[in-house]
Amino acid sequence: MHTVGADKIGFDDRIYRRLGIRRYKPSDFEACVGVFGSNVPRYFGAAELPEFAAFLGQAHAHYWVVDIEGALEACGGVSVRDGVGRLCWGMVHLSRHRTSIGSALLQWRLDALFGASSDVQEVRIETSQWTAGFYGRFGFKTTTITANGLALGFDSVVMVLSRKDWRPASVDSAHSV
Ligand SMILES: CC(C)(COP(=O)(O)OP(=O)(O)OC[C@H]1O[C@@H](n2cnc3c(N)ncnc32)[C@H](O)[C@@H]1OP(=O)(O)O)[C@@H](O)C(=O)NCCC(=O)NCCS
Repeated sequence: MHTVGADKIGFDDRIYRRLGIRRYKPSDFEACVGVFGSNVPRYFGAAELPEFAAFLGQAHAHYWVVDIEGALEACGGVSVRDGVGRLCWGMVHLSRHRTSIGSALLQWRLDALFGASSDVQEVRIETSQWTAGFYGRFGFKTTTITANGLALGFDSVVMVLSRKDWRPASVDSAHSV
């Protein structure tokens, strides 16, 4: 599996500092589980927690957190397989929804994926009907919907963003969080 790292991302360092985005480290585990828990049951099923915890338990150079003055407010990662970028386990603490943190972290991850390698021609996400609209705002197009595909009440919505529809961030357009 080929992956990208923060050391290779095509992202302006000033934006990096402004957002408080840094790499995940093992001591962030409890805080990330807390972010997950805040989104249960509205956005995640409690049954998904073991999978998320197992994911966090692995070494992840490509999983990031948004750390605002010592408070871990969001987390999310990326991977690349067979030239396709993927977004994984992106979430914002429920108490901070709709405060632009999710957009900032998504922009960061898209820029990491598309900016790191010209081999990445598209980025995919599997999400639910409750969040698909958020990704649609960034140009993602729905390719498949499977009713209750993630869990009861959570449809599987597969969405794809093509490189041609990617709009890289600039310092001037960066969110301030
Ligand atoms: C989806 C999520 C990451 C969005 O992050 P956020 O910080 O709340 O979103 P932002 O504040 O950046 O929102 C940007 C815009 O998207 C809209 N938006 C946010 N969440 C949305 C959603 N679930 N559906 C549709 N639109 C949404 C906002 O209204 C906002 O629009 P506005 O500027 O016109 O007000 C966050 O709500 C979240 O963590 N959800 C739970 C976990 C989850 O479902 N993750 C996805 C797993 S695949």
